[in-house]
Amino acid sequence: ETPLLVDRYGRVARDLRVSITTACSLRCTYCMPAEGLPLVPQDELMTPDEIGRLVGIGVRDLGIRDIRFTGGEPLMRRDLEKIIGAARTAADDAMAAPRPGTTPGTPTSAERVRIAMTSNALGLDKRVKALVAAGLDRVNVSLDTVDRETFATLTRRDRLDDVLVGIRAALAAGLAPVKINAVLLPETLAGAADLLAWAVEHGCNLRFIEEMPLDADGQWTRDDVVSAADLLGVLGSRFTLTPAGREDPSAPAEEWLVDEGPATVGIIASVTRSFCGACDRTRLTAEGTVRSCLFGNEETDLKALLRAGATDDEVGDAWRAAMWAKPRAHGSDAVELAADAFAQTERSMGAIGG
Ligand code: GTP
Ligand code: 5AD
Ligand code: SF4
Repeated sequence: ETPLLVDRYGRVARDLRVSITTACSLRCTYCMPAEGLPLVPQDELMTPDEIGRLVGIGVRDLGIRDIRFTGGEPLMRRDLEKIIGAARTAADDAMAAPRPGTTPGTPTSAERVRIAMTSNALGLDKRVKALVAAGLDRVNVSLDTVDRETFATLTRRDRLDDVLVGIRAALAAGLAPVKINAVLLPETLAGAADLLAWAVEHGCNLRFIEEMPLDADGQWTRDDVVSAADLLGVLGSRFTLTPAGREDPSAPAEEWLVDEGPATVGIIASVTRSFCGACDRTRLTAEGTVRSCLFGNEETDLKALLRAGATDDEVGDAWRAAMWAKPRAHGSDAVELAADAFAQTERSMGAIGG
């Protein structure tokens, strides 16, 4: 029996994405309804200790090597510093723990579990130093446009300047490389070249994401998806783009060098060129359930196990069982399903964790 998180299709999950809240300071139309998502009751959210325990089990027993905190907006948790600190301690202890065939000791930098977060950067400037001190290694920032009016319309909040301040603070705190995620929409296509120019100027790696059916209002249709091909046309008229492949085979983004580099621009073509076959992700929702896939509605409640006094082995077994059942692609096992077909999710992105 392998201790890793393998599924029926032979994929191995080494990348853990942990949503820690459904709350957010913005209301991006493709992610949330105007009134926001229903908040998870305080006592249903995972505590820093519970997150630390699951991270420890994941790293020591199940082969997790990358951890990313998402939401909602992670910065909405006032105890985010504690969460990162608990995850860092648990991950480092797990890497230093004696494993079969290895000598125990302090993990080398090559063995350091990377802890990252995906954030909208609002208020990041005030907390970034403490987050880095707690053990945060990297941040990806969601930013769809540098046009103030378009930003205000898309996010339903007029706060572009605060986001830019947050990104600059992350760069100043040494969190490079900062990646910027922009969802591709008819509204953002027009400003895509300006956004790329801003990213290049600030040394950020920009990635565009095809919109997936994860909006809270259920308005998504395949016909409205702006494709990677549309984007390449727009960017190509201002920049010279040279194909550069993927960072690693399981990375969601395909990259291009911008004007011969070193700057790059990436496209996460989740819809038109899905990358489910190489998926190495396992997810925890804010309520502490495992979701094996963004689009799989099956969830296994690990927090309930923790609170019922389960042992690490029992929790690990439940996690492995949940991942074994991971669907083939986009929440379905059907082989004949078109690559761009999606199972409808019962929860929106803000609830599952981008
Ligand atoms: P890096 O390691 O920094 O490259 O991070 P990442 O790309 O794994 O994380 P990030 O949160 O920046 O993810 C970017 C986007 O990729 C997300 O917002 C999603 O749109 C998409 N994405 C991430 N995971 C999945 C997944 O499991 N399935 C699909 N279809 N899309 C995903
Ligand atoms: N399709 C694709 N990406 C989305 N995100 C949120 N909703 C969607 C969607 N419907 C992205 C955000 C952010 C991350 C948390 O998820 O832009 O980068
Ligand atoms: Fe908040 Fe990110 Fe969703 Fe926008 S996409 S509403 S910033 S969680």
